[in-house]
Amino acid sequence: MEFFDVYPRFQVNVVKGKGCYVYDDKGQEYLDLYGGHAVISVGHAHPAYVKAISDQVAKLGFYSNSVINTLQDDLSHLLGKTCGYEDYSLFLVNSGAESNENAIKLASFHNGRKKVLAFHKSFHGRTTAAARVTDNPNYSPAAYMGFDVAFVDLNDIEAVRKELATGEYSSVIIEGIQGVGGIQVPQDQFMRDLREECTKTGTVLILDEIQSGYGRSGKFFAHQYAGIKPDLICVAKGIGNGLPMSGLLVSPIFKAVAGQLGTTFGGNHLACAAAISVLNIMNEEKLVENAAEVGAYLLSELKGFKGIKEVRGRGLMIGMEFEQPIKEIRSNLLYEQKVFTGVAGQYTIRLLPPLCLTKAQASDFLERFQKVLK
Ligand SMILES: Cc1ncc(COP(=O)(O)O)c(C=O)c1O
Repeated sequence: MEFFDVYPRFQVNVVKGKGCYVYDDKGQEYLDLYGGHAVISVGHAHPAYVKAISDQVAKLGFYSNSVINTLQDDLSHLLGKTCGYEDYSLFLVNSGAESNENAIKLASFHNGRKKVLAFHKSFHGRTTAAARVTDNPNYSPAAYMGFDVAFVDLNDIEAVRKELATGEYSSVIIEGIQGVGGIQVPQDQFMRDLREECTKTGTVLILDEIQSGYGRSGKFFAHQYAGIKPDLICVAKGIGNGLPMSGLLVSPIFKAVAGQLGTTFGGNHLACAAAISVLNIMNEEKLVENAAEVGAYLLSELKGFKGIKEVRGRGLMIGMEFEQPIKEIRSNLLYEQKVFTGVAGQYTIRLLPPLCLTKAQASDFLERFQKVLK
């Protein structure tokens, strides 16, 4: 049997990682400014993380949600305290799409409404509801088409007002910072107005912080720049530093109803041990503060680079848009300069490094980047 070939791939066989570096099968070192698509938060193979998951799997890797699992409570308390949402509850699942799927479901159970409002350039995942609220028809086959969704422009509060005034919408879903859409940062005032409109119309506000959350923006959640509190917050990617897991932070307006949500794998012992270790490392090493500091340095330096049309982002979530397609620049960065980067569309390079990126590693990247721009 062969692997189902749906991924365009770089010809690099990555076999090892350490901190902000990965290594191929020939021992070549690469600076990782991509974090395996924003997944590596505390760095590759962090010793405390390796020990935590090794110890846990040696004791008990998995048991189902039919028994008490105190690791789930430990994780909920630690996450609540770390991100400032101690009065919220935590539901655990396995992937970003699944987290959004459950958020849309819970919102609809809550207010009984059907429709969802989303934004142009959004990306929320590839399962039914998540794919339909993604602004790309290529991800939704005919079988998904019964789902009722509308899209408006990011930052267009009048368009939001007009839609929500119909009273038909169950929820609005928005990314803390749009990632796949090219690192589009919503205006803080827009976020505050959106919060107000949702409250006024009984619409649930869902913040997809799957890419922009968990410290990446330089605050724990990107929406915290606007000083708002969403009703549901979706997290994934960095939560397990590579161990597949995701979560849904649920505000106190929702009542837990037995059987309404559920999962086999979500919140298992190994995943919880990984997530607890990630938060402990983030707190001990002050990685959110580091993302803010090193991110600000990168952003200000990159804004001085010639040849880049626009630099956008917050913290260690940075987009660089070019006038010309970036395929060659990115490929030279990888094969000549040994630097991994991400991409958004044809014109934007995305930087999503581990949150432990040092200022020295950031300057090293800038030097290598300068060489491919010449
Ligand atoms: C903002 C956002 N939401 C949802 C997802 C989907 O996450 P997953 O691929 O884990 O389902 C992604 C993945 O890139 C994302 O960036």
